[in-house]
Amino acid sequence: MLTVLFLGDVVGEPGRKAVIARLPELKEKHALDFVIVNGENAAGGRGITGKITIELLRAGVSVVTTGDHIWDQKEIVSFLALEPRLLRPLNYPDGAPGGGSIVLETAKGKIGVINVQARTFMQPILENPFRALEPAVTKMRQETANIIVDAHGETTSEKIALGRFLDGKVSAVIGTHTHVQTADEQIFPGGTAFLCDAGMCGPVESILGRAIEPIMNRFVSNLPASFPVAAGKVRLRGALIEIDETTGRALRITRVDEPGPSEPASPEAEPKVDIEHAPSPEQT
Ligand SMILES: [Fe+2]
Repeated sequence: MLTVLFLGDVVGEPGRKAVIARLPELKEKHALDFVIVNGENAAGGRGITGKITIELLRAGVSVVTTGDHIWDQKEIVSFLALEPRLLRPLNYPDGAPGGGSIVLETAKGKIGVINVQARTFMQPILENPFRALEPAVTKMRQETANIIVDAHGETTSEKIALGRFLDGKVSAVIGTHTHVQTADEQIFPGGTAFLCDAGMCGPVESILGRAIEPIMNRFVSNLPASFPVAAGKVRLRGALIEIDETTGRALRITRVDEPGPSEPASPEAEPKVDIEHAPSPEQT
């Protein structure tokens, strides 16, 4: 059995410090074979740098996925060519720097990761993710049936449609981008695990990881403002996926909701259920 930890959008220094601090312990606790994190908000809440990518990889992350904020830090354009374990969305037009998928070897066989960006309420509007996924998944399945897809998008409907579209073709489709963990983890009839949004790794006394007051004032006043990353208590949210590596079918998916390094471990075994959707200041 392949055990994969998928962590949602890492927000700023609080988020990445928490991931780096807790990952060794989580690896041991869950006997993890592979770790995927979405890092597109890891640099002060906007984009990711080469240095941060390397820090995450050194901490035990196998692949870093991204989304609409991939280009926010200018240096990332050249770094993408050097580090194939940092993905940008697959459905950019041909010629975009970097890659949208990767296959890596583990002790239990190969595992592939594909990063795709949805289109509804997303900027920029990329190529059709469904059309882009078809040939990418077909090609990857010639190498391995163990495939995890990060579906980075705003709407529940488009992410569920992507999950249903890929049912039976990949091991798991996990949504990212909204920073709010959904409670719809399930395994579709074809054997594909699904969670509409993994949630975020970041400060919870916040609005999507940013300080509350500036975001609230923006909605109240409509005036431009900057949105600093919030401080305080951090949670690590995502999903644990168990895969039969002989078939690529998911056996189990469990939501992850772990405290940051400064918080005492939660005694309850079951993760909390959160609301589904929220405004998206990260798109402003
Ligand atoms: Fe995003």
